[in-house]
Amino acid sequence: MSILVTGGAGYIGSATVDLLIERGEPVVVLDNFLEGHRDAVNPDADLYEGSIGDAGLITSIVQKHEVNACIHFAAHTNVGISVTDPGKFYANNVGEGLALMNALRSAGVLRVVFSSTCATYGEPIRIPMDEDHPQNPHNPYGWTKFFLERILEDFDRAYQMRFVGLRYFNASGATKLRGEHHRPETHLIPLVLFTALGLRESISVFGSDYGTHDGSCVRDYIHIEDLAEAHWKALGYLRDGGKSDFFNVGTGRGYSVLEVIEAARRISGKPISVKVEGRRAGDASFLVADATKAKEILDWEARHVTLESIIESAWKWHEAHPEGYKK
Ligand SMILES: NC(=O)c1ccc[n+]([C@@H]2O[C@H](COP(=O)([O-])OP(=O)(O)OC[C@H]3O[C@@H](n4cnc5c(N)ncnc54)[C@H](O)[C@@H]3O)[C@@H](O)[C@H]2O)c1
Repeated sequence: MSILVTGGAGYIGSATVDLLIERGEPVVVLDNFLEGHRDAVNPDADLYEGSIGDAGLITSIVQKHEVNACIHFAAHTNVGISVTDPGKFYANNVGEGLALMNALRSAGVLRVVFSSTCATYGEPIRIPMDEDHPQNPHNPYGWTKFFLERILEDFDRAYQMRFVGLRYFNASGATKLRGEHHRPETHLIPLVLFTALGLRESISVFGSDYGTHDGSCVRDYIHIEDLAEAHWKALGYLRDGGKSDFFNVGTGRGYSVLEVIEAARRISGKPISVKVEGRRAGDASFLVADATKAKEILDWEARHVTLESIIESAWKWHEAHPEGYKK
C-alpha cells in the first residue's frame, strides 16, 4: 500500500516525502516539474513525471502501487502571478485539482490530505486566527484553495472521501537535504538570505507604518519539518477513521519583517541592506495562527518556534546551495 504525493518535488512536498520514507511508508511522487526539482525527490520514492489532471495516469499509478491515500501539494503558488494570470491558477489548482479528486475517487482512494493556506482567510478580523475565522481571500491564489476546500467538503458528503485540509501559515526553513527554491523566489526568508549571500543588493520592506510593534508586517513562520510532521499526523488521523476537517498549521507566534532581517544578520554575520518601500496592495498587517485545534485533535505541535532555529536551518541550506537545486 502506497501514498501518492502530488507535488513531491516541491519545497514542502520533498521534505514530507523524506519523512514518510523515513517512517517506512512506500511513496509514489507525481510532479510535472514546472516548478519542482528532480534533485529534491528522495531516490527511494517511485517517481512519475506528469500532471495531476491526467486521469489515466492517476488510475494506473493507483493500481500499480496500490495507493490508498494521497497527499496533495501540487499547485501554482505565486500569489502575484495569480493576480495577473488568474486563468492559469484556476485551471491548475481548481481544474486539475478536481480532475485529480475524481480520478482518486473512481480508483477507490478515499483519503486525502490537502495543502490549503491561511490565504483563504483574507484580511484578519481577529488575531490569532482560528479555523472558524471567516474566509474571504483577497487574491485568486487564495480563492483557488478556497474552492478546492469546498470540493473536498462535497466529496466527503457525497462519496465519503475523507480529507484533512491543512491551512499552512508561512512555510519556512530547511531540512538537512531540502530547502526553498521557487522560480522566481518571492518568499521573504530566502530573499533576505540571498541578500546576505551577495546575490541581491538589498531587501525591500514593503510598508513601515503598519500598526505592529515596529511598523512592518508580522507573519507566523512554520518550519517545513513541522509541516511534514503535521502531514504524517493527518494521515494517521484519517487512517484511524477521523472525520474530514480543517486545521491551521502555524506556531501561534508572529515575527515582523524587520525581526526576520535582524535575525538573518545575526545568524549569517553579514550586513543586509534594506530598502523601505510603500505598502503593497493586499498585504495583511498581522497573520498569526491559532493552532490549538491541531494540538487537541491531531496531537501536533510546532517544535521550531524561534526565528533562530528557522533561519539557521535555511541559512545552512542556502550557503551550501547558493543557486538552489541543479536539476
Ligand atoms: N510555501 C508556503 O508558504 C505555502 C503556504 C501555504 C500553502 N502552501 C501550499 O503548499 C503546497 C506546496 O507549496 P510549495 O511552497 O512546496 O510549492 P512548490 O512550487 O515548491 O511545490 C509545488 C509542486 O507542485 C508541482 N505541480 C504544480 N502543478 C502541478 C500539476 N498540475 N501536476 C503535477 N505537479 C504539479 C510543481 O512542479 C512543484 O514541484 C502548495 O499547494 C501551496 O499552495 C504553501
